[in-house]
Amino acid sequence: MKAVHVDVRVNPIQYEVYMGTDLLDRMAQDLQEKPLAKRYAVLSDDRVSGLYGKKMMESLEKRGLKAQLFTFPQGEASKNRKEKEHLEDAMLAAGFGRDSAVIALGGGVVGDLAGFVAATYMRGIPVLQVPTTTLAMADSAIGSKTAVDVPYGKNLIGAFHSPVEVYMDMGFLPSLDERNYFAGLVELIKHSFIRMPALQDFLSEHRDTVCLRQGEDYFAVMETLFYQNSAVKNEIVSRDQQESNLRKVLNYGHTLGHSVEMASHFERIHGECVAIGIAFAAYLSWQLGYCEEEWAQKQVQLLQEYHQDTRIPEGLTTEQLIQGMKTDKKVRDGKTEWILLAGPGKLVQRPDGAYGIPVEEDILRECLEGFRKWQK
Ligand code: GLY
Repeated sequence: MKAVHVDVRVNPIQYEVYMGTDLLDRMAQDLQEKPLAKRYAVLSDDRVSGLYGKKMMESLEKRGLKAQLFTFPQGEASKNRKEKEHLEDAMLAAGFGRDSAVIALGGGVVGDLAGFVAATYMRGIPVLQVPTTTLAMADSAIGSKTAVDVPYGKNLIGAFHSPVEVYMDMGFLPSLDERNYFAGLVELIKHSFIRMPALQDFLSEHRDTVCLRQGEDYFAVMETLFYQNSAVKNEIVSRDQQESNLRKVLNYGHTLGHSVEMASHFERIHGECVAIGIAFAAYLSWQLGYCEEEWAQKQVQLLQEYHQDTRIPEGLTTEQLIQGMKTDKKVRDGKTEWILLAGPGKLVQRPDGAYGIPVEEDILRECLEGFRKWQK
């Protein structure tokens, strides 16, 4: 047998994540000074484009940049292969070539879908992420994951496609509805638990400003919040983009969270389910002897202060939840693997350094029952 050794040195990527206000103009200015493409396809949903599409297009046109807006119906139901195909065909029909770039303007669905379009369009064109929701700013716009959902599960078809830059404009936040605003902050709270106790303190200290979305210092507080949050997420992702071990810690609260999300038929939105999942992972960490009850309670308290109901919704049976967890990516030899915390920022590791801690189904069943009582 013969073999040719192939050693492709893929360029490591570096990009900036900006947070501030009036960033649409700043982005257009940056693109004018350092063009990324000949034409820009702004991809957005019908809600966000109604609010900010005109402003985005005007900012780009004012700087002499050629751009076209493409929209699709808002909501998770649009994050599928069909919508991706529609967008690609619309861009092809409009003559967008390899010298184009995508600007993803919107929340998590827009970022994931538009990012995936960019990842495969003409074998890959650049993407700029402009997240407009707390969820997208806290999580999905950073970290290079793009994907669509398929009938077999969420985010199962996708690609890693890093943005060229990310622009987080705090001015988008006041228009977000209450439910999505608070649910998106759960990912940020999660980052504070797993990696940055100082961020947890900041969240406690500035709770009123963040929750009321008022006050002279609101934008400055949110800017600091997302700055610290991005530092946590980027530190983890830059060390393990492909999720071979460390990046798995970002799944804290997601094992039960995804199961609740599916069992509630997406009536509970992602962040709300992750809040329940975090509360349970905290309880499980305590029950397995990794931490004190006080630490588990502290996590639940902060989530509740940020308007989250951390109880398992009535009507969802333990059996249903166990079955849901089995379809999760984090199952090995029939045991679900859990990200657990021994204290603030103290992740539990197996002797070989791995972060997923396997838990037997019987123990899980018992703990799910115990958790319901603990939460009463
Ligand atoms: N949302 C989890 C991750 O980016 O890995």
